[in-house]
Amino acid sequence: MFEKLDEIEAIVNKCSKCELCSNRIQAVFGVGNPSADVMFIGEGPGADEDREGKPFVGKAGKLMNQAFLGLGISREKIYIANIVKCRPPNNRTPLKEEANACLDYLRNQVMIIKPKIIVLLGNTALKNILGEEYGITSSRGKWIEKKGIKYMPTFHPAALLRDESKKIDFWKDLEIVKKVADENKFVI
Ligand code: URA
Repeated sequence: MFEKLDEIEAIVNKCSKCELCSNRIQAVFGVGNPSADVMFIGEGPGADEDREGKPFVGKAGKLMNQAFLGLGISREKIYIANIVKCRPPNNRTPLKEEANACLDYLRNQVMIIKPKIIVLLGNTALKNILGEEYGITSSRGKWIEKKGIKYMPTFHPAALLRDESKKIDFWKDLEIVKKVADENKFVI
């Protein structure tokens, strides 16, 4: 385990623990406040993220930014990362072995950042972090507390691009996150 994010990032940039490394332009480590109270975890980089080296900079990210703007959540004050750091081909869901190969990096990031709240964006984040028994449709919008961290599962923003009706629930879930963060004086 490492003590600084920079150290993990350097390892991730050279990582070849799974097949995903073979097609990447670059790994997408994560961005934001290194001591964030609130962390967002997505699935994996898409084409835009692979090109820019930052998470959620494409269409889904822009949609998430709109919600952040509306709710008063600052991208600079939170931290954003993904389950896998390299782009899966054709944006498919990461395989279990790919997620498993990458998860130690994310766990190490969480250990260093020490977030109080983690927002899990979609099933891949939810299942890999909290367990296969969870599903996003039934779990979204409800806090799950584990080892002193409050987890809030919600839809992945890409799901909102496919189904507009999910936008309301996504907004409601982030509103709860913002409210609880504010009540606890967490930076958000
Ligand atoms: N989807 C994700 O899950 N993560 C990103 O960084 C971009 C799109």
